Amino acid sequence: MSGGGTVRRIDIATARPLRVTVLRAGMPGDPAIFAGDDEPETVHFGAFAGDSLVGVVTAMHHQRPGAGPEEWQLRGMATLPEVRGEGHGAALIAAAEAFIGEQGGTSIWFNARRAAEGFYARMRYTTVSDEFDVPGIGPHVVMEKRLG
Ligand SMILES: CC(C)(COP(=O)(O)OP(=O)(O)OC[C@H]1O[C@@H](n2cnc3c(N)ncnc32)[C@H](O)[C@@H]1OP(=O)(O)O)[C@@H](O)C(=O)NCCC(=O)NCCS
Repeated sequence: MSGGGTVRRIDIATARPLRVTVLRAGMPGDPAIFAGDDEPETVHFGAFAGDSLVGVVTAMHHQRPGAGPEEWQLRGMATLPEVRGEGHGAALIAAAEAFIGEQGGTSIWFNARRAAEGFYARMRYTTVSDEFDVPGIGPHVVMEKRLG
């Protein structure tokens, strides 16, 4: 990992095309709109290599059933294939975690594609569910991390 480029907040209109390219490849017409994208607390992050957007992730103030308001969710994590392994994914996770921590968040969860589980494990997330299928996308697990 080389450390990635820079990460900054972006709007959803900027994030969505990359989301579609990476996360909805081969699914014509899918706009990759997620419930919560436009909520006031939701923040979208972009990773940049120079001026080029090469990765995205979204932080939402969404909790699992029974969890308190200190819990946040990540969604739409994606980097372009040609930049993978350069640290942009890790930089996006670090930025989202820092932001969530600043908001008083102490735990993060998400549904992880099985193919990305190793990446998240490298980011110190733990698998806390059995595998389940997301129709049209594939096998997933729930992962979580406590901050601090
Ligand atoms: C998963 C994904 C976001 C990783 O992005 P990336 O830009 O390659 O991540 P980084 O370069 O920051 O990698 C960080 C570390 O994780 C490792 N890593 C990356 N992807 C991995 C994977 N699938 N399995 C295991 N380790 C992985 C890297 O080798 C690197 O390790 P290092 O610190 O020892 O060098 C990217 O592969 C992707 O967009 N995949 C397709 C979409 C997807 O599955 N998104 C997740 C949806 S839940």
